[in-house]
Amino acid sequence: MKWFSILLVCALTWPSSLWAQQQPIVIRFSHVVAPDTPKGKAAVRFQELAERATNGRVRVQVYPNSELYRDREELEALQLGAVEMIAPSLSKFGPLGVREFEVFDLPFMFPDAQALHRVTNGPIGRDMLRRLRLKGVVGLAFWDNGFKSFSANRPLRMPSDLSGLRMRIQPSRVLDAQMRALGAQPMTMRFGEVYAALEAGVVDGTENPPSNFFTQDMQDVQAHFTVSNHGYLGYAVIVNRKFWEGLPSDIRGALEDAMRDATAYAASIAQQENDRALEAIRASGKTQIHVLTETEREAWKQALAAVSVEMEDLIGAQLIADIRRVVD
Ligand code: LMR
Repeated sequence: MKWFSILLVCALTWPSSLWAQQQPIVIRFSHVVAPDTPKGKAAVRFQELAERATNGRVRVQVYPNSELYRDREELEALQLGAVEMIAPSLSKFGPLGVREFEVFDLPFMFPDAQALHRVTNGPIGRDMLRRLRLKGVVGLAFWDNGFKSFSANRPLRMPSDLSGLRMRIQPSRVLDAQMRALGAQPMTMRFGEVYAALEAGVVDGTENPPSNFFTQDMQDVQAHFTVSNHGYLGYAVIVNRKFWEGLPSDIRGALEDAMRDATAYAASIAQQENDRALEAIRASGKTQIHVLTETEREAWKQALAAVSVEMEDLIGAQLIADIRRVVD
Protein backbone atom coordinates (compact mmCIF):
# COMPACT_ATOMS: atom_id res chain seq x y z
CA MET A 1 0.00 0.00 0.00
CA LYS A 2 2.87 2.29 0.95
CA TRP A 3 4.62 1.60 -2.37
CA PHE A 4 1.43 2.12 -4.26
CA SER A 5 1.02 5.56 -2.66
CA ILE A 6 4.61 6.52 -3.53
CA LEU A 7 4.11 5.47 -7.15
CA LEU A 8 0.87 7.38 -7.35
CA VAL A 9 2.49 10.55 -5.98
CA CYS A 10 5.42 10.16 -8.45
CA ALA A 11 3.05 9.73 -11.40
CA LEU A 12 1.01 12.77 -10.42
CA THR A 13 4.01 15.00 -9.84
CA TRP A 14 6.04 13.86 -12.89
CA PRO A 15 6.52 17.02 -14.94
CA SER A 16 4.79 16.78 -18.29
CA SER A 17 7.91 17.97 -20.16
CA LEU A 18 9.85 15.03 -18.74
CA TRP A 19 7.01 12.74 -19.70
CA ALA A 20 7.12 14.11 -23.25
CA GLN A 21 10.87 13.43 -23.37
CA GLN A 22 10.21 9.76 -22.65
CA GLN A 23 7.87 9.44 -25.63
CA PRO A 24 9.62 8.29 -28.80
CA ILE A 25 9.65 10.73 -31.71
CA VAL A 26 7.67 9.06 -34.48
CA ILE A 27 8.63 9.38 -38.14
CA ARG A 28 5.91 8.15 -40.45
CA PHE A 29 7.59 7.28 -43.76
CA SER A 30 5.07 6.76 -46.53
CA HIS A 31 5.88 5.47 -50.01
CA VAL A 32 4.10 3.93 -52.98
CA VAL A 33 6.20 0.93 -54.05
CA ALA A 34 6.54 -2.64 -52.76
CA PRO A 35 8.81 -3.39 -49.78
CA ASP A 36 10.90 -5.59 -52.06
CA THR A 37 12.26 -2.76 -54.23
CA PRO A 38 15.33 -0.50 -53.90
CA LYS A 39 13.23 2.23 -52.21
CA GLY A 40 11.29 -0.22 -50.05
CA LYS A 41 14.49 -1.84 -48.79
CA ALA A 42 16.28 1.46 -48.24
CA ALA A 43 13.34 2.74 -46.18
CA VAL A 44 13.55 -0.28 -43.89
CA ARG A 45 17.33 0.11 -43.66
CA PHE A 46 16.84 3.75 -42.63
CA GLN A 47 14.34 2.64 -40.01
CA GLU A 48 16.82 0.16 -38.50
CA LEU A 49 19.74 2.61 -38.58
CA ALA A 50 17.74 5.51 -37.19
CA GLU A 51 16.24 3.54 -34.32
CA ARG A 52 19.62 2.07 -33.40
CA ALA A 53 21.48 5.38 -33.64
CA THR A 54 18.96 7.13 -31.38
CA ASN A 55 18.65 4.25 -28.88
CA GLY A 56 14.97 4.00 -29.67
CA ARG A 57 14.25 7.69 -29.04
CA VAL A 58 13.08 7.76 -32.65
CA ARG A 59 10.58 5.24 -34.04
CA VAL A 60 10.28 5.02 -37.80
CA GLN A 61 7.04 3.57 -39.17
CA VAL A 62 7.35 2.62 -42.83
CA TYR A 63 4.13 2.46 -44.87
CA PRO A 64 4.79 0.91 -48.33
CA ASN A 65 2.51 0.29 -51.32
CA SER A 66 0.47 3.52 -51.06
CA GLU A 67 -1.00 2.06 -47.83
CA LEU A 68 -1.22 5.51 -46.27
CA TYR A 69 -1.10 7.97 -49.16
CA ARG A 70 -0.85 7.81 -52.93
CA ASP A 71 1.40 9.84 -55.21
CA ARG A 72 0.24 13.41 -54.99
CA GLU A 73 -1.52 12.96 -51.67
CA GLU A 74 1.72 12.05 -49.93
CA LEU A 75 3.23 15.42 -50.90
CA GLU A 76 0.23 17.19 -49.42
CA ALA A 77 0.34 14.99 -46.33
CA LEU A 78 3.99 15.89 -45.82
CA GLN A 79 3.33 19.60 -46.11
CA LEU A 80 0.43 19.33 -43.66
CA GLY A 81 2.49 17.27 -41.21
CA ALA A 82 0.32 14.15 -41.53
CA VAL A 83 3.54 12.24 -42.32
CA GLU A 84 7.11 13.25 -41.58
CA MET A 85 9.07 11.61 -44.41
CA ILE A 86 8.45 10.56 -48.01
CA ALA A 87 10.61 9.72 -51.03
CA PRO A 88 8.73 10.63 -54.21
CA SER A 89 10.24 10.01 -57.59
CA LEU A 90 11.96 13.05 -59.09
CA SER A 91 9.19 13.15 -61.70
CA LYS A 92 6.61 14.05 -59.05
CA PHE A 93 7.88 17.37 -57.69
CA GLY A 94 5.78 19.55 -60.03
CA PRO A 95 3.07 20.20 -57.40
CA LEU A 96 5.76 21.71 -55.16
CA GLY A 97 6.54 24.14 -57.96
CA VAL A 98 10.02 22.76 -58.61
CA ARG A 99 9.91 21.68 -62.22
CA GLU A 100 13.74 21.58 -62.39
CA PHE A 101 13.65 18.08 -60.92
CA GLU A 102 12.18 16.91 -64.21
CA VAL A 103 15.64 17.33 -65.70
CA PHE A 104 16.19 13.76 -64.46
CA ASP A 105 13.40 12.63 -66.80
CA LEU A 106 15.13 13.82 -69.97
CA PRO A 107 15.55 10.82 -72.26
CA PHE A 108 19.11 9.48 -72.65
CA MET A 109 20.47 12.26 -70.43
CA PHE A 110 22.55 10.01 -68.18
CA PRO A 111 24.77 7.40 -69.81
CA ASP A 112 25.05 5.35 -66.61
CA ALA A 113 24.63 5.41 -62.82
CA GLN A 114 28.16 6.79 -62.28
CA ALA A 115 27.42 9.85 -64.40
CA LEU A 116 24.11 10.28 -62.62
CA HIS A 117 25.81 10.13 -59.22
CA ARG A 118 28.27 12.85 -60.26
CA VAL A 119 25.21 15.09 -60.53
CA THR A 120 23.24 13.96 -57.47
CA ASN A 121 26.29 13.77 -55.18
CA GLY A 122 27.85 16.97 -56.47
CA PRO A 123 27.11 20.70 -56.20
CA ILE A 124 24.17 20.53 -58.63
CA GLY A 125 22.40 17.89 -56.55
CA ARG A 126 23.09 19.70 -53.28
CA ASP A 127 21.78 22.94 -54.72
CA MET A 128 18.61 21.26 -55.95
CA LEU A 129 17.91 19.79 -52.52
CA ARG A 130 18.60 23.16 -50.88
CA ARG A 131 15.98 24.85 -53.06
CA LEU A 132 13.27 22.64 -51.56
CA ARG A 133 13.49 24.55 -48.26
CA LEU A 134 11.58 27.38 -49.85
CA LYS A 135 8.70 24.97 -50.29
CA GLY A 136 8.48 24.00 -46.63
CA VAL A 137 10.35 20.73 -46.97
CA VAL A 138 13.93 19.66 -46.39
CA GLY A 139 15.64 17.48 -48.99
CA LEU A 140 17.84 14.92 -47.24
CA ALA A 141 19.12 12.67 -50.01
CA PHE A 142 18.76 11.26 -53.49
CA TRP A 143 17.97 7.54 -53.65
CA ASP A 144 18.36 5.39 -56.73
CA ASN A 145 15.99 3.09 -58.41
CA GLY A 146 17.36 2.68 -61.91
CA PHE A 147 16.89 3.08 -65.62
CA LYS A 148 13.48 2.62 -67.20
CA SER A 149 12.36 0.41 -70.05
CA PHE A 150 9.22 0.50 -72.18
CA SER A 151 6.57 -2.21 -72.10
CA ALA A 152 3.40 -2.90 -74.07
CA ASN A 153 1.44 -5.75 -75.59
CA ARG A 154 3.23 -5.48 -78.90
CA PRO A 155 6.95 -5.75 -79.62
CA LEU A 156 8.76 -2.41 -79.29
CA ARG A 157 11.91 -2.34 -81.35
CA MET A 158 11.81 0.97 -83.16
CA PRO A 159 10.35 4.30 -81.95
CA SER A 160 7.49 4.00 -84.44
CA ASP A 161 6.29 0.90 -82.57
CA LEU A 162 4.97 3.17 -79.82
CA SER A 163 2.93 5.18 -82.27
CA GLY A 164 -0.72 5.47 -81.27
CA LEU A 165 -0.28 3.61 -77.95
CA ARG A 166 -1.73 5.04 -74.73
CA MET A 167 1.25 5.11 -72.41
CA ARG A 168 1.03 5.62 -68.65
CA ILE A 169 3.39 8.26 -67.34
CA GLN A 170 4.21 9.88 -64.01
CA PRO A 171 3.05 13.51 -63.68
CA SER A 172 5.98 15.10 -65.49
CA ARG A 173 5.86 17.47 -68.44
CA VAL A 174 9.11 16.00 -69.71
CA LEU A 175 7.66 12.51 -69.78
CA ASP A 176 4.59 13.89 -71.51
CA ALA A 177 6.82 15.45 -74.20
CA GLN A 178 8.82 12.24 -74.47
CA MET A 179 5.74 10.13 -75.23
CA ARG A 180 4.40 12.70 -77.69
CA ALA A 181 7.74 12.77 -79.52
CA LEU A 182 7.28 9.03 -80.04
CA GLY A 183 3.76 9.46 -81.38
CA ALA A 184 2.23 7.89 -78.28
CA GLN A 185 -0.57 9.29 -76.15
CA PRO A 186 0.67 10.00 -72.61
CA MET A 187 -1.72 9.30 -69.74
CA THR A 188 -0.79 10.48 -66.26
CA MET A 189 -1.78 8.00 -63.59
CA ARG A 190 -0.91 7.17 -59.99
CA PHE A 191 1.52 4.31 -59.56
CA GLY A 192 -0.89 2.19 -57.54
CA GLU A 193 -3.44 2.30 -60.37
CA VAL A 194 -1.20 1.20 -63.22
CA TYR A 195 -1.70 -2.56 -62.96
CA ALA A 196 -5.49 -2.27 -63.03
CA ALA A 197 -5.33 0.22 -65.91
CA LEU A 198 -3.15 -2.13 -67.94
CA GLU A 199 -5.38 -5.06 -67.13
CA ALA A 200 -8.51 -3.17 -68.14
CA GLY A 201 -6.87 -1.82 -71.30
CA VAL A 202 -7.26 1.79 -70.18
CA VAL A 203 -3.59 2.16 -71.08
CA ASP A 204 -1.61 0.01 -73.50
CA GLY A 205 1.86 0.33 -72.06
CA THR A 206 4.16 2.02 -69.61
CA GLU A 207 7.80 2.62 -68.61
CA ASN A 208 9.46 1.29 -65.47
CA PRO A 209 12.70 0.02 -64.04
CA PRO A 210 12.41 -3.79 -63.91
CA SER A 211 12.05 -3.76 -60.08
CA ASN A 212 8.86 -1.69 -60.19
CA PHE A 213 7.49 -3.68 -63.13
CA PHE A 214 8.05 -7.06 -61.51
CA THR A 215 6.95 -6.20 -57.97
CA GLN A 216 3.64 -4.89 -59.38
CA ASP A 217 3.12 -8.15 -61.36
CA MET A 218 3.02 -6.26 -64.63
CA GLN A 219 4.38 -9.37 -66.36
CA ASP A 220 0.78 -10.66 -66.07
CA VAL A 221 -0.55 -7.81 -68.21
CA GLN A 222 2.33 -6.80 -70.50
CA ALA A 223 3.53 -9.23 -73.16
CA HIS A 224 6.61 -7.25 -74.24
CA PHE A 225 9.36 -5.48 -72.31
CA THR A 226 12.10 -3.68 -74.22
CA VAL A 227 15.29 -3.02 -72.28
CA SER A 228 15.75 0.53 -73.51
CA ASN A 229 17.26 2.20 -70.41
CA HIS A 230 16.08 5.44 -71.99
CA GLY A 231 15.47 7.38 -68.78
CA TYR A 232 16.24 7.44 -65.09
CA LEU A 233 13.94 6.90 -62.13
CA GLY A 234 15.20 8.01 -58.73
CA TYR A 235 13.91 9.71 -55.60
CA ALA A 236 14.49 12.61 -53.28
CA VAL A 237 13.95 11.78 -49.61
CA ILE A 238 12.21 14.75 -48.06
CA VAL A 239 10.96 15.68 -44.59
CA ASN A 240 8.54 18.24 -43.24
CA ARG A 241 10.68 21.29 -42.50
CA LYS A 242 8.97 22.34 -39.28
CA PHE A 243 9.27 18.83 -37.89
CA TRP A 244 12.94 18.56 -38.92
CA GLU A 245 13.98 21.91 -37.55
CA GLY A 246 12.12 21.22 -34.29
CA LEU A 247 14.14 18.08 -33.54
CA PRO A 248 16.80 18.18 -30.79
CA SER A 249 20.10 18.70 -32.57
CA ASP A 250 21.66 15.43 -31.36
CA ILE A 251 18.69 13.51 -32.77
CA ARG A 252 18.84 15.39 -36.07
CA GLY A 253 22.55 14.61 -36.34
CA ALA A 254 21.97 10.91 -35.66
CA LEU A 255 19.21 10.84 -38.30
CA GLU A 256 21.46 12.56 -40.83
CA ASP A 257 24.08 9.85 -40.26
CA ALA A 258 21.44 7.13 -40.60
CA MET A 259 20.23 8.73 -43.83
CA ARG A 260 23.77 8.89 -45.23
CA ASP A 261 24.25 5.17 -44.59
CA ALA A 262 20.80 4.26 -45.94
CA THR A 263 21.59 6.27 -49.08
CA ALA A 264 24.85 4.38 -49.63
CA TYR A 265 22.93 1.15 -49.11
CA ALA A 266 20.26 2.20 -51.66
CA ALA A 267 22.96 2.98 -54.22
CA SER A 268 24.67 -0.35 -53.57
CA ILE A 269 21.56 -2.52 -54.08
CA ALA A 270 19.65 -0.70 -56.84
CA GLN A 271 21.41 -2.26 -59.81
CA GLN A 272 21.33 -5.78 -58.42
CA GLU A 273 17.65 -5.47 -57.49
CA ASN A 274 16.86 -4.42 -61.04
CA ASP A 275 19.03 -7.16 -62.56
CA ARG A 276 17.30 -9.71 -60.37
CA ALA A 277 13.87 -8.39 -61.32
CA LEU A 278 14.71 -8.55 -65.03
CA GLU A 279 15.70 -12.19 -64.62
CA ALA A 280 12.46 -12.86 -62.73
CA ILE A 281 10.42 -11.26 -65.54
CA ARG A 282 12.24 -13.47 -68.03
CA ALA A 283 11.76 -16.56 -65.86
CA SER A 284 8.01 -15.89 -65.56
CA GLY A 285 7.75 -16.81 -69.24
CA LYS A 286 4.87 -14.32 -69.57
CA THR A 287 6.70 -11.31 -70.96
CA GLN A 288 9.07 -11.38 -73.87
CA ILE A 289 12.21 -9.35 -73.27
CA HIS A 290 14.00 -7.55 -76.05
CA VAL A 291 17.30 -5.74 -75.54
CA LEU A 292 17.74 -2.85 -77.98
CA THR A 293 20.55 -3.34 -80.48
CA GLU A 294 22.98 -0.45 -80.96
CA THR A 295 21.23 0.57 -84.20
CA GLU A 296 17.81 0.49 -82.58
CA ARG A 297 19.09 2.47 -79.59
CA GLU A 298 20.45 5.15 -81.93
CA ALA A 299 17.04 5.42 -83.60
CA TRP A 300 15.34 5.97 -80.19
CA LYS A 301 17.95 8.56 -79.25
CA GLN A 302 17.33 10.45 -82.46
CA ALA A 303 13.57 10.30 -82.11
CA LEU A 304 13.88 11.81 -78.62
CA ALA A 305 16.70 14.28 -79.24
CA ALA A 306 14.41 17.31 -79.53
CA VAL A 307 12.80 16.79 -76.10
CA SER A 308 15.56 18.49 -74.12
CA VAL A 309 15.44 21.54 -76.41
CA GLU A 310 11.66 21.67 -76.11
CA MET A 311 11.92 21.53 -72.30
CA GLU A 312 14.56 24.27 -71.88
CA ASP A 313 12.03 26.89 -70.81
CA LEU A 314 10.49 24.60 -68.23
CA ILE A 315 13.68 23.25 -66.67
CA GLY A 316 16.19 25.96 -67.49
CA ALA A 317 18.70 25.83 -70.34
CA GLN A 318 21.50 26.57 -67.87
CA LEU A 319 20.71 23.59 -65.65
CA ILE A 320 20.55 21.27 -68.66
CA ALA A 321 23.90 22.59 -69.92
CA ASP A 322 25.49 22.28 -66.45
CA ILE A 323 24.34 18.69 -66.15
CA ARG A 324 25.57 17.83 -69.64
CA ARG A 325 29.01 19.11 -68.69
CA VAL A 326 29.08 16.81 -65.65
CA VAL A 327 27.79 13.69 -67.37
CA ASP A 328 29.63 13.88 -70.70
C1 LMR B 1 6.03 5.60 -60.63
O1 LMR B 1 5.01 6.25 -60.36
O2 LMR B 1 6.15 4.92 -61.64
C2 LMR B 1 7.19 5.66 -59.65
O3 LMR B 1 7.36 6.97 -59.23
C3 LMR B 1 6.92 4.77 -58.46
C4 LMR B 1 8.08 4.83 -57.51
O4 LMR B 1 7.95 5.43 -56.45
O5 LMR B 1 9.12 4.24 -57.86
